[in-house]
Amino acid sequence: MSVKENDWLLCSSQNEFELKAIEMIENFADDAIRSKGHFSLVLAGGNTPKKIYKSLSKTDCDWDNWHIYFGDERCLPSNDEDRNSLMAEKSFFSQVSIPKNQIHIIPAELGMNEGAEVYDKKLNSDMVFDLVLLGLGEDGHTASIFPNSKFDEKKQAVPISNAPKLPENRISLTPHRLSMANYVIFLVMGKDKKIALDKFKSAENIPASRVSALKKLTVLISDVN
Ligand code: 6PG
Repeated sequence: MSVKENDWLLCSSQNEFELKAIEMIENFADDAIRSKGHFSLVLAGGNTPKKIYKSLSKTDCDWDNWHIYFGDERCLPSNDEDRNSLMAEKSFFSQVSIPKNQIHIIPAELGMNEGAEVYDKKLNSDMVFDLVLLGLGEDGHTASIFPNSKFDEKKQAVPISNAPKLPENRISLTPHRLSMANYVIFLVMGKDKKIALDKFKSAENIPASRVSALKKLTVLISDVN
């Protein structure tokens, strides 16, 4: 899918940004559950999605059929405030009835190499995610794939060291694995993302540009200009 086929949706407020994100997630979930009985969702980390997850948890979804994965994780103890899994637990999982065995947390507390290997083996390499949520970093990174990240492209989940955004050691799904998704939504909010967003729109060589979708990639934008 080329950049021009992506949908670039500029929202007029943070509230509209969140409502649009929730509406899209709910619609993709309803369609997937209606057609095949389950919905696989990859969560984004960082701060932007926190309020979206919190508002999503207040909706009436068929949670029993949701299966959750993570696009990346920071190599920190499971109970560390900076863990993406703890953010998702507090803002989302603690408020809904998704079966715990359907929430697939990246075991980053094992360290980047062992944790990546465990998650890589856990993922079904043939499975297409229904929806992948991603953030965009100021340097154009997404998940934990940074401009100079070195990793094995043949793997699904990889160790990332020397990350410029702390902690230095992380685990990430690869751009190829993130692209094995029917739909991808980038959640981009804040003036600090303007340069990265312009590069993304111009298909410049940033990690975010390496992600595509089988059906549609949408970039949801708020408060960037
Ligand atoms: C992480 C995220 C990372 C994040 C972007 C945007 O673990 O840090 O996965 O890719 O999505 O850095 O972060 P913000 O939403 O906090 O701006």
